[in-house]
Amino acid sequence: MSESGLIDVFVFMGDQPSDVFRQYTTLTGSAPIPPKFSLAYHQCRWNYVDEADVRSVDDNFDVHDIPADVIWLDIEYTDRKKYFTWDVEKFPHPAEMVANLTAKGRKLVAIIDPHIKREAGYFLHEDATEKGYYVKDKDGKDYEGWCWPGSSSYLDFFNPEASKYYSERYKFENFPGTSNDVHIWNDMNEPSIQHHEQNRGRNLSKRHVHNEYGLWNIRATHQGMLDRSDNKYRPFILTRSAFAGTQRFAAVWTGDNAAEWGHLAASLPMCLSLSLAGISFCGADVGGFFKYPEAELMTRWYQAGAFQPFFRAHSHIETKRREPWLYEPSTTALIRDANRRRYALIDFWYTLFYEHSKDGLPVMRPLFQHYPKEEATFTIDDQYLLGDKLLVRPVTSAGATSVKVYFPGTESNTLWYDVDSYQARVAAGYANIDVTLAKIPVYQRGGSIIPRKERVRRSSLLMADDPYTLVVALDSNNTASGSLYIDDGETYEYKKKKYIYAKISYTTEEMTYSFVNDKATYPTQSWVERIVIAGIKVPPKTAKLHQGDKQTALQMTLHRGNDVLVVRKPAATMAQPWKITFSY
Ligand code: GLC
Repeated sequence: MSESGLIDVFVFMGDQPSDVFRQYTTLTGSAPIPPKFSLAYHQCRWNYVDEADVRSVDDNFDVHDIPADVIWLDIEYTDRKKYFTWDVEKFPHPAEMVANLTAKGRKLVAIIDPHIKREAGYFLHEDATEKGYYVKDKDGKDYEGWCWPGSSSYLDFFNPEASKYYSERYKFENFPGTSNDVHIWNDMNEPSIQHHEQNRGRNLSKRHVHNEYGLWNIRATHQGMLDRSDNKYRPFILTRSAFAGTQRFAAVWTGDNAAEWGHLAASLPMCLSLSLAGISFCGADVGGFFKYPEAELMTRWYQAGAFQPFFRAHSHIETKRREPWLYEPSTTALIRDANRRRYALIDFWYTLFYEHSKDGLPVMRPLFQHYPKEEATFTIDDQYLLGDKLLVRPVTSAGATSVKVYFPGTESNTLWYDVDSYQARVAAGYANIDVTLAKIPVYQRGGSIIPRKERVRRSSLLMADDPYTLVVALDSNNTASGSLYIDDGETYEYKKKKYIYAKISYTTEEMTYSFVNDKATYPTQSWVERIVIAGIKVPPKTAKLHQGDKQTALQMTLHRGNDVLVVRKPAATMAQPWKITFSY
């Protein structure tokens, strides 16, 4: 049923789930590569109350050795909810505050909502009133609503002039204290009002365009953020409202949840649904927005969030503070472990998002996408795949000592390697898996190669030049393949071929790292520190690295029941292709 009489139906004819998903993003767009920091961990709260609070939260991540990339400011940083202003008592030196963060490779995200405080003397209200940029009521007068600031009106982003005006507010001179290291959160962008009719040839009533309002809001923000940096830096925007195509401009979170086990569990089907609807960059408030998560729920939520695309802790202003170090040391340790797992996989995530930008396929995938012949997968939404390589089954219930995990690929005898122990199991549908509070059931598919960075630092930026550990999980034919994307992590230089997209392949004879597009290069300082090959049957006697015209004999050690081979310190640079040959 369409309330307003308008309904557009598209039918996608793909044979396989992947074809349908791809067709959908061909129509509505896929997310461009996000700035790398945005795939790392975000710390938010309504609110970090002043500069000293921001500083202390930032410092505590270091004190407790927990990586974090972003501190967020909710509505209270403003001068009484007037966006594009600062509360000068609490935030007198925003530029310095940001500089303190960037010194550690961290960023700031600040909220800007689309409701505008109706207050005489507030430039935004006066400009919008005078120029007619507000949404109108049925009598043609500026619509007055009620939101955080009290009496408010809404910028009409359907009016191109109003959008342009709004985009310009993001210029550094118009929003002092901000810089390229300050990114934007657009919330509350689902008001219920009337809109500008330009370009539509008809009066736009709210019900025609309700879901589109947020899209036009973030488009204007996106344009503003591109303009402010002369198109140099990739913007990061988080939006609550979403529409078909939102993925081209912003990440989406699932809104105001609560610290309840059911809400943790719901974050999986919600993000999976968003992913299938083209919105791969999705996440839920870690810990729950309302209420207070006790230690076990908080631990499980971090463990789940660490394996969801958008990973941000957030909480309501009236809840008890719950930064990771405010729990017992044993809980803080588990949260640290979850965050460090995220950082170790940061280049895997980044590669997945690069691939999404090219093929439009979800980053977080339902099992049926890759195993459409296994009927049992059709209804599974408490576990999922990251790309086609990791199988993730977060624990989402209290007091769990075991979870039911479905291991797909029964027809092809797919192997799934526990990422903690490298123990492999052959796909045979459901199995009960024992879990402790420290366990996050995650499995790497046999036949895949995953890049890791094991020297976890304070922020992802500080890890940019760090070496890789490549984890090769063998299939039953003793082969595996994977990919790796590297660029500067923040600009559009990749459009000028300043990136590396490499394919990594393993057979019993050789392992190769080769560039898919050999015209594209990036001068990365990273190198290979270690190669872990799990599921090896006959270990090679020698391994030799070939890079350029250099050849180097490599050391190897065997682990576990002699089925995990570690090639130690190949030290090949990732800036050039390389090959390792094995002899038996
Ligand atoms: C909305 C958002 C929430 C935010 C609050 C105050 O409830 O969903 O995340 O903290 O507004 O800005």
